[in-house]
Amino acid sequence: MRATAIAHPNIALVKYWGKVDLTRNLPAVGSISITLDTLATTTRVDFDSGADSDQLFLDGDRASAERTSRVRVCLDLFRRFRPDLPAAVVESENSFPTAAGLASSASGFAALVTAVNAALESPLGADRLVEIARRCSGSSPRSLCGGFVELALVGDSTTVRSILDRRDWPLDVVIAVTSKAAKTVGSTDGMELTRTTSPFYHAWVTRSPGDLEAARTAIAAGDFEALAAVAEASCLAMHAAAMAARPGLVYWNGATVEGLHRVRELRGGGTPVFFTIDAGPQLKAVCEPGATDRVAAALAEIPGVVEVIRCGLGDGAMVVEA
Ligand code: DP6
Repeated sequence: MRATAIAHPNIALVKYWGKVDLTRNLPAVGSISITLDTLATTTRVDFDSGADSDQLFLDGDRASAERTSRVRVCLDLFRRFRPDLPAAVVESENSFPTAAGLASSASGFAALVTAVNAALESPLGADRLVEIARRCSGSSPRSLCGGFVELALVGDSTTVRSILDRRDWPLDVVIAVTSKAAKTVGSTDGMELTRTTSPFYHAWVTRSPGDLEAARTAIAAGDFEALAAVAEASCLAMHAAAMAARPGLVYWNGATVEGLHRVRELRGGGTPVFFTIDAGPQLKAVCEPGATDRVAAALAEIPGVVEVIRCGLGDGAMVVEA
């Protein structure tokens, strides 16, 4: 009962921010993302180690109690269906900074649930896997799929599916890393603060179905300008709602803001590029592959940008060793 799986981070173009049910981690809004290549989480799960309790090693070191307990919660969700599951040793490696707004929880839990399921003598079905991944982190089911992915709300549950293959619209993503420090307010806490205190939260939730529809239409038509418009609008609306919380959440630093303006200048000059920003200070610039060199060079020049990472679109989570 051992397996290894790999999963890539995803970046939401229409954002998830807010929950209707904290216990089940049920999102208040659907979301649309792109799965990346290049960056990856590789997770090995071993149920045969004879360990007394579930253990987590992250990038070779024993993980914090908080991270270990999130992994235990995930394993316990599997134990609801497989009560005899022994304690596991989980070893996970990220090829990028953890918890700095590069969606490490999404790729982390997608790799974990995929590896656990592959290690089971009788694996759970896809619906249960999506449910378990979502309970661990709302963005992680999207990393189970490749290319352009939609997480949809269906009743009091969620579904996830690829809405366009990465080969059908091979966009690139340039990540301008503006800080490698862990963020101060994680997504889960940030969402709850926004939901409970932001006067813009209701407006944010209400506009989401229109954004999802606009993004679906833009993706189906390969309409870059339309996708740029809705993705930037969704990102800024999410951050506006978060900034209006009490106390206001400002995930950006100066280089994030500079990058945002640089991306818009480039687009104004005819370069097909738009930005998105998650619950951290990194700026993600999505562009047509012909523009990647120009975008990467422009972002690298910004004072405060410490690293520029280039990605293409990637595949969903997969088992690499069972
Ligand atoms: C800003 O999936 O990390 O990246 O469900 O509480 O674990 P939890 O939150 P998480 O939130 C992601 C928020 C976001 C937007 C997005 O990816 O849709």
